[in-house]
Amino acid sequence: MRGSTKLTTRKAFIAGNWKMNTDSHTSVKLAQDVVSMSRDVAGSAVDVAVCPPFVYLQQGAKALSSSRVALGAQDVYFEQKGAFTGEISAGMLKDAGCTYVICGHSERRHVIGEGDELVNKKVHAAILGGLLPILCVGELLEERKANKTTEVVTRQMKKGLAGLSPEKMSAVTIAYEPVWAIGTGLTATPQQAQEVHALIRKLLAEVFGRKIAGEIRIQYGGSVKPDNAGELMAEEDVDGLLVGGASLKADDFTAIVKAAVS
Ligand code: PGA
Repeated sequence: MRGSTKLTTRKAFIAGNWKMNTDSHTSVKLAQDVVSMSRDVAGSAVDVAVCPPFVYLQQGAKALSSSRVALGAQDVYFEQKGAFTGEISAGMLKDAGCTYVICGHSERRHVIGEGDELVNKKVHAAILGGLLPILCVGELLEERKANKTTEVVTRQMKKGLAGLSPEKMSAVTIAYEPVWAIGTGLTATPQQAQEVHALIRKLLAEVFGRKIAGEIRIQYGGSVKPDNAGELMAEEDVDGLLVGGASLKADDFTAIVKAAVS
């Protein structure tokens, strides 16, 4: 539950990352169901976005068109156009109706092999193209076990956000997603999440100043479910959630959305 003791004025932000799931029929149905089930809170009490696969973005945009649920993409390429076979630019995503784009998701870092420099270029390109990037950071299990969480998250933050002005930084959401918690059923405890979220806010303050740092939303991601969303959101520096598996079921996802405002 979002405790009454929580001091923040940051508006909660819940995003669903559908990853490489759904098809043309189920993506539309899922988007429509999220719209109807979250209508009373989406956009007013809490910002809500869904991120379908690229090929279903336009259908998703249609399904969301009369709602306050925003559309996001799962990745972007940093060039604006040209001979980059298979890639998608920020301008194309904007044209397809996207507001947000996920940059540097752990599956792109650790399965596809993206490094911090590439992720940084994507963040810049997203902002230049008028999108709001969600920059994902988070440590592997072996890094946590070796007490390297602070080092890894600090490096990903500094390199991922390099070259951004404070004004551009205002467009960014950070998602802390410990890799060992993604899709594994293992969730970070609210205390573990808060500890890293506080570190992230401190790093933001050092680079962009306290005012901007106080305004940036930091999501937690990694096996978020309806029954742990409330306790995670109760932490002072947990401003939202990036939800994978549970975002594929409209009732689970909207239960998470509602837990963020209750
Ligand atoms: P999960 O994925 O909720 O299925 O753990 C989260 C994410 O990868 O964004």
